[in-house]
Amino acid sequence: MAKKAAPLIIANWKMNGLLLESMQLFKEIRKRILDNLVGCEIVICPPFTLLRDMAEKTPGTGVKLGGQNCHFEPEGAFTGEISAAMLHDMTCDYVILGHSERRHHFNEGSEVVRKKAAAAHAASLKCIICVGETLFERDNHLAEETVKQQLLHSLPDGADDKNTVIAYEPVWSIGTNKIPTCEQIEEMHTYITRILKAEKPTFKNGVCVVYGGSANGSNAKEILNIEGVGGLLVGRASLDSNEFWGIIEAAS
Ligand code: PGA
Repeated sequence: MAKKAAPLIIANWKMNGLLLESMQLFKEIRKRILDNLVGCEIVICPPFTLLRDMAEKTPGTGVKLGGQNCHFEPEGAFTGEISAAMLHDMTCDYVILGHSERRHHFNEGSEVVRKKAAAAHAASLKCIICVGETLFERDNHLAEETVKQQLLHSLPDGADDKNTVIAYEPVWSIGTNKIPTCEQIEEMHTYITRILKAEKPTFKNGVCVVYGGSANGSNAKEILNIEGVGGLLVGRASLDSNEFWGIIEAAS
């Protein structure tokens, strides 16, 4: 049997952290990583303003960096935006795209996510494409159809299991401390893999699907043990070094 890949633990710091406090947070995490044997892949997605300082501190730790968004054009008159190449220039390996906060607060539909993902791939970034249903959609038995449509419309040509990770993040679980049951998580992760295998030949070998939404040091082990869960996308709990370390330990 093929060896199971090490879990992927992604920290999404969102719009949090000024330079000094964030570098202190990373200093604490970094020390623990260097003092221990870590059995998972760690990706940290800080605000853009911190990338340069983070890029100086990550070498030798195994920690990879990611952006939280990018524009779909390679360059030009797009005030306030950041390109995929700029993230790559800051040593990022990953970019989060289609997070529900972008979809809902900034009206980003899957077509835009797909264009951004194509630009990210062109700049040699791996995409973490977020999908997930609202509570209304779940209550009305629309969860699978919502996720399917998001998936099929967010993935650009050329997306495959090497350059793309899917994050299943039920919107109702983000920032709420409400977690789906293990059965619900397993069902959706299995569904995502099945849809991609069936609809996209480039995913015939499957795909890494990470779970996101109120993951923390106490529930990480249980979630990571669910069949089909390849890792975690962590918001709030990644802003506390003890809590985040608890997740890394659970994943190791
Ligand atoms: P949370 O956020 O862990 O704070 O619920 C998760 C996310 O938005 O990725």
